[in-house]
Amino acid sequence: MAALIQRLSWLLAICVALVPSGIQAVDRSNFKTCSQSSFCKRMRDIPPGQSPYRALLETLELSNTRLTLQLINDNNKVRLLLELYRLQGNMTRLKINELKPLRPRFEVPDVLIADPPTEPLSLVSQDEGGVVLSLGSDARHVVVSAQPFRLDIVEGPRVLLSVNSRGLLAFEHQRPRKDTLSKISNTVSSMWDTIKNIFSSNNENDSEEGEVADDPENENDEKEEDQPDMWEETFKSHTDSKPNGPTAISIDFSLPAVEHVYGIPEHAENLKLKTTHGGDPYRLYNLDVFQYELNNPMALYGSVPVLLSHSPQRTMGIFWLNAAEMWVDISSKAVEKMDAAQTPSEVPLTDIHWISESGIIDVFIMLGPKPSDVFMQYTSLTGTQSFPPLSALGYHQCRWNYNDQEDVRNVDQGFDDHDIPYDFIWLDIEHTDGKRYFTWDPAHFPQPREMLQGLMDKRRKMVAIVDPHIKVDSGYKIHKEIHSKNLYVKNKDGGDYEGWCWPGTAGYPDFTNPDMRTWWASMFSYDQYEGSMENLYIWNDMNEPSVFNGPEVTMHKDALHGSWEHRDVHNLYGFYVQMATAEGLIQRSGGVERPFVLTRAFFAGSQRYGAVWTGDNAAEWSHLKISIPMCLSLGLVGISFCGADVGGFFKPPSAELLVRWYQTGAYQPFFRAHAHLDTPRREPWLFGPENTALIREAVRERYALLPYWYLLFYKANHTGQPVMRPLWVEYPEDAITFAIDDEFLLGDDLIVHPVTEEGSKGVTVYLPGNGGVWYDAHTFQRHVGGQNLYVPVTMSSIPVFQRGGSIIPRKNRVRRSSSCMENDPYTLYVALSPQGTAEGELYIDDGHTFNYQLQKQFIHRRFIFAESTFSSRNISPDSQFSTASWVERVFILGAHRPSSVTLKTSDGNVSSLEFDFDKATSVLTIHKPGVNVGADWILLLQ
Ligand code: NOJ
Repeated sequence: MAALIQRLSWLLAICVALVPSGIQAVDRSNFKTCSQSSFCKRMRDIPPGQSPYRALLETLELSNTRLTLQLINDNNKVRLLLELYRLQGNMTRLKINELKPLRPRFEVPDVLIADPPTEPLSLVSQDEGGVVLSLGSDARHVVVSAQPFRLDIVEGPRVLLSVNSRGLLAFEHQRPRKDTLSKISNTVSSMWDTIKNIFSSNNENDSEEGEVADDPENENDEKEEDQPDMWEETFKSHTDSKPNGPTAISIDFSLPAVEHVYGIPEHAENLKLKTTHGGDPYRLYNLDVFQYELNNPMALYGSVPVLLSHSPQRTMGIFWLNAAEMWVDISSKAVEKMDAAQTPSEVPLTDIHWISESGIIDVFIMLGPKPSDVFMQYTSLTGTQSFPPLSALGYHQCRWNYNDQEDVRNVDQGFDDHDIPYDFIWLDIEHTDGKRYFTWDPAHFPQPREMLQGLMDKRRKMVAIVDPHIKVDSGYKIHKEIHSKNLYVKNKDGGDYEGWCWPGTAGYPDFTNPDMRTWWASMFSYDQYEGSMENLYIWNDMNEPSVFNGPEVTMHKDALHGSWEHRDVHNLYGFYVQMATAEGLIQRSGGVERPFVLTRAFFAGSQRYGAVWTGDNAAEWSHLKISIPMCLSLGLVGISFCGADVGGFFKPPSAELLVRWYQTGAYQPFFRAHAHLDTPRREPWLFGPENTALIREAVRERYALLPYWYLLFYKANHTGQPVMRPLWVEYPEDAITFAIDDEFLLGDDLIVHPVTEEGSKGVTVYLPGNGGVWYDAHTFQRHVGGQNLYVPVTMSSIPVFQRGGSIIPRKNRVRRSSSCMENDPYTLYVALSPQGTAEGELYIDDGHTFNYQLQKQFIHRRFIFAESTFSSRNISPDSQFSTASWVERVFILGAHRPSSVTLKTSDGNVSSLEFDFDKATSVLTIHKPGVNVGADWILLLQ
């Protein structure tokens, strides 16, 4: 009966979820605030300035690359072990764990791509107050103060970052449960006596060795009062059994001279993080939040525990490698400081308080100093953005759902009829046989291969959804095998964990287990995934994981992944699902083809496996606007391949909003329209011919720019630099840029300021860079840098500016899809700097395999314009690839009229080219150089 009632309430919940109109804000009562999360409350209640921790300097050990030191909590005498490493590339790693934990604490595996290489640490000085260690050259040191324990990273006279300067270090050491013990002692006192004896004899030994005092019978431990909810915690109807009791950790970081901090996605929040004083901390706990609210520190689908600080002098990063639920408090203030002339002045100070429910403190401090250094440092730890197939950078057409093969055929044809390019059409959960992933609904998708072949004939592709909740159905192969291989997550009592999701009762594969991932990957082979073909790619949704009847719509924290609690690994679940899926797509092609996998949940390192999107947004202007900072924040922490549902997921968009969203999405890395099941259809041609034309134009702009997008992803993959960037990344000393998040850079050559206001007549674009120039990418009009430029807009405007000094390749022929453009000619847009120079790059490969890596099959060229000479040079002479593409046209913006234009090719041929010069715009158009884009050539303007 109870089960029936639960089931009905679940169905009701789904029905409510599907109501299309009258969208409400999130039901906050479903999600915890800090004060409803007992560990967050305990950690947040720690009074600053009273740290009980003392460094025991006599325990210090220094090997060549590692320092260890014990810390003691003077209140309870529990000791911690601190490890400090100097890492290659200007990073410091700090680890703190219990010296003698009752049981091991979880340390995050698989996120770091390798053991980070270390560099020598040397002792500079030591006295009873502390130690000073050298971090290599340029006067960079770590200063460890003993009492209270504190750690400062200094450079010359400047403190760059302090750890525990506010005394918020806390480590809830593991302990036996007192009330359980006393209950036991009431009933089986003799057993307790035995336990006591065992513990006390152990402790005698420990004390003799002077090593540790964290015994369960410790006098001070006894004095430590258990606080409410330490051993069991109930939220709404869910009780977390917490068998291991309290295990939270916390520490503070202070950042002198810092006023601007960024990162720690995912939040529906502005780019610059706000101080959390007076509200909740930012929460990172992967959750399926129905109808999320904007400008709010509530957790969303993914978590990347990386915070960046930026000031005109320096950019730094803090990477908190921990996968448990966490909260981050941010506070900023001005502090008085004496300058060199002993005059007091105010300088900013930002304090961070980082709190996790379990695991250890494992922190990477990335010292920059430039933004690009921090990106390199972070991606050297967790990997760079995977290099997607070129087609994945095209436009994606999705909705929940395309109903059947006929529907797919019609939508596909609609794009041809309306001359709009697209690369992928997507199938949501309804395409399956009863939400059994890896299957097809026999009534509506009886011939999946025929459908896929139809798309392939047009050089297009499909994405199908494969979620990680598996229908419990003994007739379903996937379930049967996971169950029989014992690879499901377990509940606290050891049975298969079951929850409700789209298929009804579902099991959740334990993706933290490598055997599970290997088996999952094997399910994507063409013989296992029936009906699949090489143009079928995958979407992993609901992988927070979403459990409709679970606490906060996710998995119970006391569920078990082998010997670890879900509590320890929660934020990693989605990361592993996408990892296993991407691996499956690679394997099905024998390691040749690059995969494309979209995920909703993510963690640090997810960039290695594909794309992410910002989940269930709404067709509201505010949601269009927030898509910019949400993707910018992800780019800062390694995840470049980000997009938001174009049009908004919930509710029907107005035609104006839809058009503006296409125009914005065309300039964001992952460009996919998506819509809720119950919203009216909204394919691009359903809003009247004028709007169809506007959408067509936006999508075409995307396709024309694909060579540049591809280059940016290639570079992101190689260097870790984000594709979509906040302005401050390229103009780090220009304080005006620090809080800008209604415009952004693509690479460092394009500034985009999409129109995100209803009825807008104009936007104010900040063009950075004093002394530089920018060119309107549509009109070629030249504007000086370092100004706010008011740009009047109409419905067709997408304000985009190309940096003077850059060269951007485009392909301007309109085709059905990106692969149809393969051999199309290029037009080069040379935007001259005030000095009359420009540079750019071009990267070409086959667009879909790993041969660029395995066999160096690619073209990478640099274009240089200087002293009236435009040349193309091979910058990767040991790579090989041939292309049929040629240079069709060259636009030189900001040019003078030449008297002649001559082309010299590498075989010694010299020819003179036709050109036009537009005096009004100073644009020189050179017609038909006709030279192969992979060859060496020189254009001379005389
Ligand atoms: C939730 C996802 O966020 C949404 O994009 C999808 O359409 C539904 N699940 C159904 O699969």
